Parts: sequence; C-alpha cells; structure tokens
Amino acid sequence: MKTRIYTADMIDHPDVKADIKKTLLSGKHVVFPTETVYGIGAYALHETGILNIYRVKGRPSDNPLIMHLPSPDTIAPYVVVEQPYVNALMDAFWPGPLTLVCKKKDTVPLWLTGGLDTVGIRLPSHPVAQKVLNIAGIPICAPSANLSGRPSATLFEHVLDDFNHRVDIIIDGGKSEVGLESTVLDVTQIKPVILRPGVITKTMLEDVVGPVEVQLETPHDIAPRSPGMKYKHYAPKGEMVIVEGETEKVVTYIKEQITLQQQAGRKVGVIATDDLMEQFAPAYVYTLGDVARETDIAANLYIALRRMDALDMDVIYSIAFHQSVYQEVIMNRLYKAANHRVIKV
Ligand code: TXA
Ligand code: MG
Repeated sequence: MKTRIYTADMIDHPDVKADIKKTLLSGKHVVFPTETVYGIGAYALHETGILNIYRVKGRPSDNPLIMHLPSPDTIAPYVVVEQPYVNALMDAFWPGPLTLVCKKKDTVPLWLTGGLDTVGIRLPSHPVAQKVLNIAGIPICAPSANLSGRPSATLFEHVLDDFNHRVDIIIDGGKSEVGLESTVLDVTQIKPVILRPGVITKTMLEDVVGPVEVQLETPHDIAPRSPGMKYKHYAPKGEMVIVEGETEKVVTYIKEQITLQQQAGRKVGVIATDDLMEQFAPAYVYTLGDVARETDIAANLYIALRRMDALDMDVIYSIAFHQSVYQEVIMNRLYKAANHRVIKV
C-alpha cells in the first residue's frame, strides 16, 4: 500500500480534508500527531476499521481503545457522567493529556471496549489532532502509533519506521510535546482512580478534586497468552537495566558495567542527563536534556529508547528519576521498558 503523507499545513487544503474524512469514514487508518504521542486513528464505530487497527499494530484485541472527540459538547451521545467531580476535571485539564474512563452508553459497541461497560474519552489539545477530529466529525479511536511492544512514536520518523506502507495516511506534526501517553483516570467511582500515570499527575488531579487513588493498569494491558511479556510493554530490543541510588554511586556502577560489558563484546548504551554525559563517555550516551527541565526529560524518553534500538544496543543502562515532578510517569515507563530490572547501588 502506498501511504499518503501530509504535513500539518497541508490539512487545511479542501482536497486533503476530503481525503482524511473519506479515509476515516470508510474504516481506514490515519496516523496523526497528538501532544502526547502519535495515534493511529480509525472511525470508532466502524467494526472492520477497529479490528484492522489491532491487526496492523499486532495488539491483543482484549486491550480497549480510547475514543477521541473534539470538544466536551460532543461526548454526550457516548457516555454517562455520573460523579459530581468530573466536570471540574474536564474544565481543568481538557483539552489535554487526560483520558477519562466513563460509563458507556449503548451507542458504544462492546467490541470497542473489550467487553467493558466503560469507555475512555480523550480530547487532545494538539492543533492537528483537533483539526482531524473536526474534519472527521465522528469519534476516532487512536491507540499509540507503534507496533505492539515498541515504544510509542513521538516523532514522524518513528511513525514511518512502524507504519509506512501499512496505513493510508500519515500526518507529519513534528515532535510530540509531552512525549508520554495520557493519564488514564477512572471516573466511574466515588473517588477517581489513576489506571495509567501521565504528566497530569496525582498531585495535579488532587488539587482539583481531592483524594485520588492509584491502581496501575494490569488486567487490560496484559496479553494473558504471553505471561513472559507481562510487564514488558514499552521495551527496546536490548536488555535494559535501571540503576537507582545516590548519583555518585550510580555513576561508578554504570562506568564499571560499561567496561565489563564492552570487554565481553557487547554494545552499551546509557540514558542519562546533560550533567552526567561525559562520565559515561566510552559508551553511547543519549541525554534526555537538562535535569532541571522536567518536561524535556519526559518528552525525550521514547526517543532515547528508539535510538537504542536503531543502534542495536545489547545492553542499556538508565539512571532513575525519583526527584522529578513527573517521577510517577517516567519511572512507570522506565520500569516497563526495563521489564522491572532494577539495580540498587
Ligand atoms: O496519549 C494517549 O492516550 C494516546 C494518544 C494517541 O491519544 N493513546 C493511547 O492509546 O495511548 P492506547 O490505546 O495505546 O492506550 C490506551 C490505554 C490502554 O492502556 C488501555 O488499557 C486503557 O487506556 N483503557 C482504555 N479504555 C479503558 C477502559 N474502558 N477501562 C480501563 N482502561 C482503559
Ligand atoms: Mg499504547
């Protein structure tokens, strides 16, 4: 299949708009940028379109998809909002990187929700995502645009690697600003529950609605048929290890390991920040940026993981980020990438 590629400024053209709309309405796929990660979009109520998303991604079909809509006034046909605190969350964080899991109405098919009576709703803030949703005028499911088991795509180049010739349209929107997937929050309970951490943190949510619980995704995120892969979800190909402890000890440990691994003929990559780069010089170092610029660290994480794959690293060491305001989400993704291999020094 020849993939049609559009840049962000092309989507205002009437012919391109028509193409996007027709493609989505017929159940085909349009990859578009969002502020979190790129999404592979399909018409949410088109059964074949949705089944094909699972096939194209290689994703287990019991993992429910999120419905993307352009504005709060378009959600009423699909969900019932029962809890009184939900409106305050929508006002505070929509549009933006927060997915709200709500009780679904009968208009939302069970094959979309993996049999659940709830559905996740997200209103992305990215201007291109908003345009696509408005052009389409229909709810769009958009799981992260990555082949299953690979880190989510946050650059156009990542999308090309995974989906060129596999989808009808890809829209190039440059780098995703947030770089990590949205916070998924169950708002069907008296107290909201975080199912997947994101850059809308527990503290930020609690500032708006009071106590929030955390119950990290497992049941829907796991392919029961592959228990060995249980937590390995955002994984690079090489073996990744997170090294935790005081900075000095972490540096010493990683340097020792670089020497040992290189002696054994392995290619070693290190994920760190600008201040530590030089310390790990004999290895390939990918810096996430200035440690004080928390949003950069988050935004560059998946780029680092994909880079390690592109360079065929055998072993990857990463420093930890327990001091960051985004530590919940950064450590959640790092632990998954490392399949929970952690060395405490
Ligand atoms: O930032 C994002 O959310 C991106 C962009 C493209 O919008 N999308 C994304 O979709 O990450 P996906 O399909 O890769 O992840 C959706 C997550 C999954 O972990 C899924 O298990 C969970 O949300 N989820 C979806 N619907 C749910 C539901 N009804 N109940 C519980 N979890 C749900
Ligand atoms: Mg995903």
